[in-house]
Amino acid sequence: MVSPFEVLEVDEDADDATIERAYRERVKQAHPDQGGTLEEFQLVRRAYRELDERDRSGGGNGDATDPADIDLDDDDGAGAEAKPVRVEFLDYEVLGDYGWSLDDEDLFRKASHADLDDDEHGRLLVQPDESLLEGAENRGFGWPFSCRGGACANCAVYVVEGELSQPANHIMPDDLAERGFRLSCNGYPVTDELKIVFNVKHRAELDDLILPPGPFTRR
Ligand code: FES
Repeated sequence: MVSPFEVLEVDEDADDATIERAYRERVKQAHPDQGGTLEEFQLVRRAYRELDERDRSGGGNGDATDPADIDLDDDDGAGAEAKPVRVEFLDYEVLGDYGWSLDDEDLFRKASHADLDDDEHGRLLVQPDESLLEGAENRGFGWPFSCRGGACANCAVYVVEGELSQPANHIMPDDLAERGFRLSCNGYPVTDELKIVFNVKHRAELDDLILPPGPFTRR
């Protein structure tokens, strides 16, 4: 039996902050680009989701299953399948048209009320084995990219809500990563929901990280 606590390597009485810290660390270690496997990566995500759901349902009181009794090895168990991630997206180019700023807290509410095209603002599902860019492409969207290998910022997105993994050996400087800039070609969603602005390669601070147009560059 493998409980969510074992997967995240925390004590059963760990508080929320400890669980959150452990999750961020474990999800990095388990990432396929860091030497982990997709199965391990999904297991860590599922462990965190189980604990998060316990939290939302009132801390394991009443009829809720004690997370220590959940066996993540049990493929017949509820929620054994990693679920797709819901992503709400917005095209950065729209912000200039409407005079919106990237750090506007109401950005997505404004986008919902504007008459935007389906490829400018909308929602898509990213499957557990897809990077964010692959998820968008497989749902028919043409988001920008170039190298697809972590060596440019042509595929960059800005994370407004949620978490997108960032593998080692990426080009994104720490200060931009801390502000929420990520690469979509090798970033995997690690929360159940994401809100992102794509096409942010047009931001001035990413100018030096952009590859010029080439045969394999989109937009
Ligand atoms: S396309 Fe170059 S890092 Fe993603």
